[in-house]
Amino acid sequence: MQQIEAIKKEALDAIQAAGDATALEAVRVKYISRKGLIPDLMKHLKDIPKEEKRAYGQQVNDLKDAFQEAFDARKAELESAGGATPAGAFDVTLPGQWRGLGSKHPITQLTDRAIEIFSTLGFTVADGPDIETVFNNFDALNHPPGHPARDVKDTFYLDDPNLLLRTHTSPVQVRYMLSHPPPIRIIAPGRCYRRDTPDATHSANFHQIEGLYVDKKVSLADLKGDLSHFAREAMGPDTKIRFRPHFFPFTEPSVEVDFSCHVCHGKGCRVCKNSGWIEIAGAGMVDPNVFTAVGYDPGEVTGYAFGMGIERIAMILFGITDIRHLYENDVRYLSQF
Ligand code: DAH
Repeated sequence: MQQIEAIKKEALDAIQAAGDATALEAVRVKYISRKGLIPDLMKHLKDIPKEEKRAYGQQVNDLKDAFQEAFDARKAELESAGGATPAGAFDVTLPGQWRGLGSKHPITQLTDRAIEIFSTLGFTVADGPDIETVFNNFDALNHPPGHPARDVKDTFYLDDPNLLLRTHTSPVQVRYMLSHPPPIRIIAPGRCYRRDTPDATHSANFHQIEGLYVDKKVSLADLKGDLSHFAREAMGPDTKIRFRPHFFPFTEPSVEVDFSCHVCHGKGCRVCKNSGWIEIAGAGMVDPNVFTAVGYDPGEVTGYAFGMGIERIAMILFGITDIRHLYENDVRYLSQF
């Protein structure tokens, strides 16, 4: 019986001394696993004199209970102190870190909105690569050989002189007509490149949305109606548009399209340089030479086309005073819109 007492003291001390789950498990194995010291005591029961058996059995059972109780308590203690997980482990009870939601870039917002508006008029989205052929960017769009836009001062050419970074989204017109028969109704938003010196209103890369509608009997009135609708939807219900005569190699007649000033509603202010109007797009009726270049019959179909600058609209709509703000990717700036 003294031996039982001695084992009890030793076992309970060992439990208290166990500093982590591994040490505690070693104590458990030593004392109460099948070959442990406590089951071993029970095996001696047969050697105990008959009248003492009862008391002996009782004492071993008490030892077992005391061991189990101390063991469970120590185990819980170690777990709640983090002793059961490696030091420096992640504290799952701490609140998570908020990383913030992103916002859509103003250029993306406007592009999405334009797609939405034109899709209600039956337009689908067409796409083309940033690296274009000279044929798609200039030749098929009726630019004569010496046209100034072709100059290396204005256009980025690649090592292969037949390739360039597209200077406008108009080559998507060519690509689309070469691969689809009329009638067609597409818009093509995308990035363009020009050798411009950056300032508040110029950037060497910028975005346009191209539009093209080809069918029998498409007229300038269709162009005006559709662009008026776009202007009202994008800039506000009292926005007006006007056409000014202009020249583009790939349209005849050609116009420049102004929207009434979003800021002063036509009265005249700094944004519109006191004219009440802001130039938004180039447009016109597709030149018969373009139809011929893509294999359409100019006697059969007519079409209108337009190309508008997305940055221009974004700057006016959001009151952005310097185009470079749109490319510096300062989240504090961009998240305002
Ligand atoms: N591509 C012209 C530019 O970048 C804009 C333009 C004018 C596009 C007339 C057109 C158009 O589709 O018909 O200045």
